[in-house]
Amino acid sequence: MSLPALSGPKLCLNEGAINVGTPDDTSLPDGIQRVLLTEEQVQTRIQELGAELSTYYAGRKPLLVGVLTGAYVFMADLSREMKISLDVEFMAVSSYGLATQTSGVVRILKDLDTSIEGREVLIVEDIIDSGLTLNYLLDILRRRNPKDVRVVALLKKQRDDAHPVQVDYLGFEIPDEFVVGCGLDAGREFRNLPYVAVVRTE
Ligand code: PRP
Repeated sequence: MSLPALSGPKLCLNEGAINVGTPDDTSLPDGIQRVLLTEEQVQTRIQELGAELSTYYAGRKPLLVGVLTGAYVFMADLSREMKISLDVEFMAVSSYGLATQTSGVVRILKDLDTSIEGREVLIVEDIIDSGLTLNYLLDILRRRNPKDVRVVALLKKQRDDAHPVQVDYLGFEIPDEFVVGCGLDAGREFRNLPYVAVVRTE
């Protein structure tokens, strides 16, 4: 499957390209190396995505499907920027395989509560890394005969070895680094940081 054209401005962030904004690096929490995307940058882009999605889904009622746990923050922010009637559900999935490597086989820990047959579904992801989780989810949901399935992701890592995956709306492309904040965690911490930051590795 080829990667469709991305909607909205495609921001490619090179390592170290953005190191500004809140908070300054002297007041970062322990374990955080630097800010990659400030809160303002994230919120501005989410407003843009919300406006674009509001236009696309105007007059319809999409079902937003958030992928737990990481997407809970993006889901809350994005859905409030969509000035249309919509519905929200969450799925929880777990990847089989090594802790550090996705196997591509995903176990559903929490499924949707309602049928998506004939519905317009928008998958809401915090980050696409290898692409395996999203590809598996797309496959599962398409088998349920929705009218349409689209994908919005806040972040996508620039990885040469990533699997081609459908992304209809994207916040930012980022370097292949371990990032946290805006829902993303490291050892179950940092999900509530309002910016995207790189974890200190040394
Ligand atoms: C993250 C993210 C995606 C997945 C992307 O979830 O939310 O679902 O990894 O990785 P992939 O593209 O390599 O498949 P994670 O497994 O970290 O769970 P969490 O959201 O509960 O932290």
